[in-house]
Amino acid sequence: AAAEKGGYETFMEKEIHDQPAAVRDTLLGRTDEDGRLVLDELRISEEELREVNRIYVVACGTAAYAGMVAKYAIEHWTRIPVEVSLAHEFRYCDPIVDARTLVVSISQSGETMDTLMAVKHAKDLGARTISICNTHGSTIPRGSDAVLYTHAGPEIAVASTKAFVAQITACYVLGLYLAQLRGQTYADDAKQVMAELHEMPEHIETLLASTDRVEEIARFMADSRSVLFLGRHVGYPIAMEGALKLKELAYIHAEGFAAGELKHGPIALIEPGQPVFVVVPGPDTPHGLHKKVVSNIQEIRARGARTLVIAEEGDEDVVPFADEVIRVPKTSPLLQPLLTVIPLQVFALHLSTAKGLDVDQPRNLAKSVTVE
Ligand code: G6P
Repeated sequence: AAAEKGGYETFMEKEIHDQPAAVRDTLLGRTDEDGRLVLDELRISEEELREVNRIYVVACGTAAYAGMVAKYAIEHWTRIPVEVSLAHEFRYCDPIVDARTLVVSISQSGETMDTLMAVKHAKDLGARTISICNTHGSTIPRGSDAVLYTHAGPEIAVASTKAFVAQITACYVLGLYLAQLRGQTYADDAKQVMAELHEMPEHIETLLASTDRVEEIARFMADSRSVLFLGRHVGYPIAMEGALKLKELAYIHAEGFAAGELKHGPIALIEPGQPVFVVVPGPDTPHGLHKKVVSNIQEIRARGARTLVIAEEGDEDVVPFADEVIRVPKTSPLLQPLLTVIPLQVFALHLSTAKGLDVDQPRNLAKSVTVE
């Protein structure tokens, strides 16, 4: 078993370190010489894909947060409306689905019953279905019209890490492909984003080489009763994923909020000493979003929150209001989640370890939930 863990204490720690490879391998060989996406199995014509006028993403748990990141990217690049639905809610919300609807399922295992039933329902309604999946030949990809496999390698730890970054990567590739197919993105744009995506494994390596401070913070915080997470734009699903990791691994009450929602309720939770992680959009994010999140940090700090700020290299604006600054390499706003999630995973792992808990097999959870 020690060998399987590649010298790490736990599968989760190993899988966190597998992430540069997970992104790299998921990008590998994805585009032909014309820059078109190569899907693993394609039983939908390009003509049909061009006709798509609505996208649903269906998934559960961590995969659903990958879907929420995907929504921002796919809508931005394709101008097709994207709705993210928890798979177990999908069929009950009377979804507006027809032959021009593309239903993208995201599942590490490919066996999650809720997600499988959502895909079946979508097919019954006449939708085209694409599966983003990490497990070759599993049930969901077999039941879908097209498959885009994530190449994260087998994920053993119950809490998902490397599958998540691979899912986000696959969603970016799918979004760029649809945009190109529909002539909505100039080839150059797509090429530029792809080039930036290819730099991500190296950035993740950089992050993983400097986690000492995050580990220390996690150990100090082992007795915390509640931790909050704020993010905005693509940082919002990352805030929720950070909170989910902490619930799953450390059994600590944790919640992720959209930073803009703070003043509409959650700010009432802020009392002296309350730890709050804030995922800060890069300073170049459009519409002055960076400044708005910086003022959120200022607001909660003034009320005594302990602010743990995840910000880009060189972002000095956050410094006066941060108890801790955790740096991530600079990248374009839409791609930031591949980096900002890493310290949050490392934090949850080390807090769980500090509490002496079973990191790979948290209580009450299963790696793959094959019942509805
Ligand atoms: C379970 C796991 C989660 C996972 C979810 C979806 O609840 O504990 O970590 O995110 O299932 O799994 P899937 O295999 O469909 O991605």
